[in-house]
Amino acid sequence: MSQINDKIDRCVKCIREKTDFIPKVGLVLGSGLGDFADMVKAEAIVDYSEIDGFPLSTVAGHKGRFVFANVGQTPTVIMQGRVHFYEGYSMEDVVLPIRLMNRLGAKILFLTNAAGGLGDGFTSGDLMLITDHISSFVPNPLLGPNADELGVRFPDMSEVYDKELQELIRNVAKAQDISLKEGVYLQFTGPSYETPSEIKMAKLLGASAVGMSTAVEAVAANHMGMKICGISFISNLAAGISKDKLSHEEVKACADAVAPKFQGLVRAVIESM
Ligand code: HPA
Repeated sequence: MSQINDKIDRCVKCIREKTDFIPKVGLVLGSGLGDFADMVKAEAIVDYSEIDGFPLSTVAGHKGRFVFANVGQTPTVIMQGRVHFYEGYSMEDVVLPIRLMNRLGAKILFLTNAAGGLGDGFTSGDLMLITDHISSFVPNPLLGPNADELGVRFPDMSEVYDKELQELIRNVAKAQDISLKEGVYLQFTGPSYETPSEIKMAKLLGASAVGMSTAVEAVAANHMGMKICGISFISNLAAGISKDKLSHEEVKACADAVAPKFQGLVRAVIESM
């Protein structure tokens, strides 16, 4: 048995002492989008601090808890507050919640984040369907001995973001009259925002959005065979494209403004899963 697997087992045990809810979908809420979890009827709530050995998010405005709820008919575990590499956690801890949601039953992972936009025609407030990612600027969460219980040593990455789920999201967006952008998400470590030159580089590499999360979570979920989809909420135009200086306050303010549109989309997508 690998150490990682032991750790997941201990976390599962803590949660199972509180709830026997079996989720189908794991939803990760990004910066400023956490309110979604307050708007569902929770069947159970487990604070991260109640889970043995669990990493705690330290970002202001991020709660740290799992909310178990039926979204429509779809049993869902919602991560209200994620853990970031820039907080000083190991990548293994960063992806532990993803592995835990899978072990609790979630076969589908729905990732959301706030991101800087650099795709052609992007404006702040846009929503972007993630079609692929670039994680080459952050450590791979699968480094180290392979946890064979979770997945293979060399996972295929040719279709991380499930094509059918992408189509579902497109269709729901269309039905809600939401113009949905699409593109590649690139993860940097943060916590500093990018320089204009780094954004030029990201653009040359084919990215349309940049952020500080998500890609490594998708790597770990793909390792375990989860079906993955993701939406970035473009909270600002990336450095050098925007004339304004970037701030976390701007990200949060834009998230508040876009939250109803975003939450409506997420809700309808999960209801159809
Ligand atoms: N860069 C990186 N992460 C972000 C940004 C950004 O511009 N906006 C929100 N998260």
